[in-house]
Amino acid sequence: MRMYDLIEKKKRGGELADEEILFMIRSFVDGSIPDYQMSAMLMAICFQGMTEHETAKMTLAMRDSGDVIDLSPIHGVKVDKHSTGGVGDKTTLIVAPIAAACGVRIAKMSGRGLGHTGGTIDKLESIPGFRIALSEEEFFDIVNTTGLSVIGQTGNLVPADKKLYALRDVTATVDCLPLIASSIMSKKLAAGSDAILLDVKTGSGAFMKTMEDAIRLAETMVAIGEHAGKRTVAMITEMGVPLGRAIGNSLEVIEAVQTLKGEGPKDLYAVCRSLAAEMMILAGVCDEASASAAVDDAVTSGRALAALRAMVAAQGGDVSVINDTERFAKAACRYEVRAVQSGYVCHMDAEQIGIASMKLGAGRARKEDALDYSAGIILQKKYGDKVEAGDVLATLCAGREELFPDAAATLQAAYRFAEEEPSPEQLIYAKVD
Ligand code: URA
Repeated sequence: MRMYDLIEKKKRGGELADEEILFMIRSFVDGSIPDYQMSAMLMAICFQGMTEHETAKMTLAMRDSGDVIDLSPIHGVKVDKHSTGGVGDKTTLIVAPIAAACGVRIAKMSGRGLGHTGGTIDKLESIPGFRIALSEEEFFDIVNTTGLSVIGQTGNLVPADKKLYALRDVTATVDCLPLIASSIMSKKLAAGSDAILLDVKTGSGAFMKTMEDAIRLAETMVAIGEHAGKRTVAMITEMGVPLGRAIGNSLEVIEAVQTLKGEGPKDLYAVCRSLAAEMMILAGVCDEASASAAVDDAVTSGRALAALRAMVAAQGGDVSVINDTERFAKAACRYEVRAVQSGYVCHMDAEQIGIASMKLGAGRARKEDALDYSAGIILQKKYGDKVEAGDVLATLCAGREELFPDAAATLQAAYRFAEEEPSPEQLIYAKVD
């Protein structure tokens, strides 16, 4: 088999056979297919696409390129959750403890931020002492005793994706649906859970800007999951506006704790409530009729917060900051951004708000950048709120005053106002299963 012939076939719109896909992924990982040939193939896939069958086979070949985690030492049904990412998206910190408190087992590997805001691992590392690198044995033990554990990705999980993503990043082939779907799902399948919940976000702060693209990605990923024999469900949720009011690593942990106490923002709780309910249905611990009430009960009884506390303690984190979030280190400087006009907030550009938080030190412009865990933004006014000129729109938090002017200008430009009250924000658009 020659890679040259496979490139030629895909260039002309042909369908790659199962053994051709396996050959291509294996030979790329072992170095016998050079980057220039794989780059040509990736571009051909961008133009010609892949069938559902090809995409599924490529995902399985990628999954099998490294370790596939065996979670069988963990008792009960393990459900994984993946978000395609967004601004203020701290849902894992809320949904995982709720689901764990209701009997779902969560053994989750999470990533650092790829874009302008931190990822779940970055947020957890803002808790002093929290360890994201555990031995497999410790990881399993913690899930068996507390119901959940969230750790960083282990060394040899899906090496094919690491190599392919690095190439896609420099060949303008990241935004290609079968490549995105296979990249995400190969990692989820290698992580070993029994079922997978996908939170596919849509809007300016999301990877998928339009509803059509979000639905196509969700359908493709659900089909891959089912092909691999894993029950997979996707929810399409809103990311035109940041989720909740806090953006930034420790600020988001604080908001997650408030939400687990039943005192969080309504939009954040609504999204988390439906994601947690869906995880419980996937695990078979609840049915459609009882899941939402079970979520509410886990929160009002304090069981969900107790589950978060137990995980933090088990992973070496300082539980006193969860018990009293005032104990989190505070940013050295604060700055209030005020409205320059009156009206209703009718648009917030989530992507620009994410960029403003990155400029304050909450996210990375480059992979090697260090984060300032206490930096970020607290939104005082959100979509639909009535604002008078001079009202505080948001409070910026940073380690140095000189970071404020640029971030404040970016944030101001992200808001738009109208005289009329806008229609209510829709948070959950569709379920794909
Ligand atoms: N996230 C991933 O893990 N892979 C992609 O290709 C895009 C987003």
